[in-house]
Amino acid sequence: MTTQTRLSLKTDQAASEQIPIAAEASFTHSETFQWTQQWYPMAVAEFLDQKSPHAIQLLGKELVLWCDKDGAWHCFEDRCPHRLAPLSEGRVEADGTLMCAYHAWRFGSEGQCLDIPQSLDLETAKRHRDNPRACAIAYPTQLQQGLIWVWPESGAKAKQLSQERSPRTIPELTEMPERAIKLFWYVRDFPYGWDFLMENIADPAHVPVSHHGIMGNHYRDANYYDMNPVREVSTQEGFAFDIRPVPTILKKAVHDFQPPCHMRIESTFENEGQMILALYASPTRPGWCRHIGCQVLIKDTQGKTPPGLGFFAWPMPVWLGHVLAPLFLHQDLAFLHYQEKRIGHQERGNWLEAVYTPNPQDKMVIALRQWLKIRAGGGIP
Ligand code: FES
Ligand SMILES: [Fe+2]
Repeated sequence: MTTQTRLSLKTDQAASEQIPIAAEASFTHSETFQWTQQWYPMAVAEFLDQKSPHAIQLLGKELVLWCDKDGAWHCFEDRCPHRLAPLSEGRVEADGTLMCAYHAWRFGSEGQCLDIPQSLDLETAKRHRDNPRACAIAYPTQLQQGLIWVWPESGAKAKQLSQERSPRTIPELTEMPERAIKLFWYVRDFPYGWDFLMENIADPAHVPVSHHGIMGNHYRDANYYDMNPVREVSTQEGFAFDIRPVPTILKKAVHDFQPPCHMRIESTFENEGQMILALYASPTRPGWCRHIGCQVLIKDTQGKTPPGLGFFAWPMPVWLGHVLAPLFLHQDLAFLHYQEKRIGHQERGNWLEAVYTPNPQDKMVIALRQWLKIRAGGGIP
């Protein structure tokens, strides 16, 4: 069979099941999703030592997170304005400033230079400190629901824009704290890109197969189901799909993609009890992403707590959760790494043509790839 025959067969068979690309084709440039004007969760605050700076990466930028003496987290470019030493190798001093460990210049929470110890006299020091070139480059940062969120653009305009947009948090934790039980956060850096992780968590069909033994059984549970959109596809707000038929213990199961970083998997039981998987992915550098996640259990109207996800919902200390989470997370790691490698080497930018997806279980993955291609500039910049 020639490639062309194979492709047209695929198109014919799958056309009725896939979101039509044609309907998506009329977007103007002004509606393109802006990857750098977004909040990304980069760390779980309680896991970080407040006395040290921490190197992170976001969209290929080298950044540093550090905490001042009031407990507020800040994010700077990880280069000292003096001679570019990494500030992540510096120290958080007792006065709550960040000191570069190379020549001891010090910086305040906005990046302002507060000390250049080698100066001739106080007046010269002040003049040099006041030069904008003496400042560290600061990025908007905030703490929400225990996560440190970073906005990957700096400057006055970025600061203003960042204040106009909210991070993709879990509304139930704020709106119904009496019913919501948050289980432990976990963090993992994966050797595959943001899009492959998002694709993976938009794809419930892989769960009983890849996660055989921990979450389902690959002989018994790899079954037919359909996925249908439950809200309109939006450049800024993403899209959501439900699963039909739902497994018998559920009333509803919805996968909700909220760009740039959030997939919320919501399982609703009888009496409105819910299990929410709050999954985050931040693009760190090419071929890598940072995954942060937790489960939130919403008590039903009778006050009963619904079941969580396998043994991860059992009462356990956070450290044990961290030890056990990779058992699950590593089960499909190699698949995703090599998926990306194959696309990267052979069919870059051509995902929709490279795959064969005749079944409706792949609808949300296709929607994600189309959203990236048509609404988000082709993917992570
Ligand atoms: S490089 Fe940072 S103080 Fe010199
Ligand atoms: Fe998985």
